[in-house]
Amino acid sequence: INIELLDEQARWEAAQRIKIGLYFATWWALNVVFNIYNKMVLNAFPYPWLTSTLSLACGSIMMLISWATRIAAAPKTDFEFWKNLFPVALAHTIGHVAATVSMSKVAVSFTHIIKSGEPAFSVLVSRFLLGDTFPMPVYWSLLPIIGGCALAAVSELNFNMIGFVGAMISNLAFVFRNIFSKKGMKGKSVSGMNYYACLSILSLLILTPFAIAVEGPQVWAAGWQNAVAQIGPNFVWWVAAQSIFYHLYNQVSYMSLDQISPLTFSIGNTMKRISVIVSSIIIFHTPVQPINALGAAIAILGTFLYSQAKL
Ligand code: 3PG
Repeated sequence: INIELLDEQARWEAAQRIKIGLYFATWWALNVVFNIYNKMVLNAFPYPWLTSTLSLACGSIMMLISWATRIAAAPKTDFEFWKNLFPVALAHTIGHVAATVSMSKVAVSFTHIIKSGEPAFSVLVSRFLLGDTFPMPVYWSLLPIIGGCALAAVSELNFNMIGFVGAMISNLAFVFRNIFSKKGMKGKSVSGMNYYACLSILSLLILTPFAIAVEGPQVWAAGWQNAVAQIGPNFVWWVAAQSIFYHLYNQVSYMSLDQISPLTFSIGNTMKRISVIVSSIIIFHTPVQPINALGAAIAILGTFLYSQAKL
């Protein structure tokens, strides 16, 4: 009987590994497509506050329709749930808008190289704000992460301060988002998919007034005409694609966060950035100097060392 139980356990673990592997592969593929369409849109229509709002709006509408038509079961939520979700949504909104503003100013690859420094932010926030301590190797692993990002930044051909600071703000905001989300999802009956849907809806409510204040309908209307004149009527499909893929990749990432630790999540996220960096450099013919590529490689290697040190 014991052997049978062990067999059962081994089979369950193997199935779980395959499931997480599939989630990860889907998450990365959807993310690559999002990043490409997002940059194509931003190149023709440089209004990152509107494109960020549209991504959240599209996800919110998709989920409201899924709930109304019972394609997905609507979550049972109370006031307490939305109150606890607020800080997560605020961090998500700031991280999302900051990353999109960054990508409107610099190459996609550069934003993601800086964003591969997220584990360093995670350690610093946990250490100085939450009082957690880590074994010495974890702190050592921050050196290549920070050093590699710095090297990539100073050797970046198209360096832009807003692009750099946006990616850094996004790092900080997403560390808070991930810490609060995992706490909020623990022991709750709301699934990863529905949790992310509620997060989109609340973030949309937070972001909309700011997007109107920073950019506004007049600027958008003129910019839209310009983009359609350049690209043609197909431009609307680019916007639709960036919005739909934004929701889908985040939804799948939350479905995996539901099953794994925040650490495994951040390793998966860094590996995702390798595919985004490589594919965007190829598609957009981004010029890369050897020293620039070296910086990115050191930063990513640092993240692997970090994950090993933290195990
Ligand atoms: C965004 O727009 O929210 C960012 O591109 C997301 O960054 P991520 O790769 O950390 O999800």
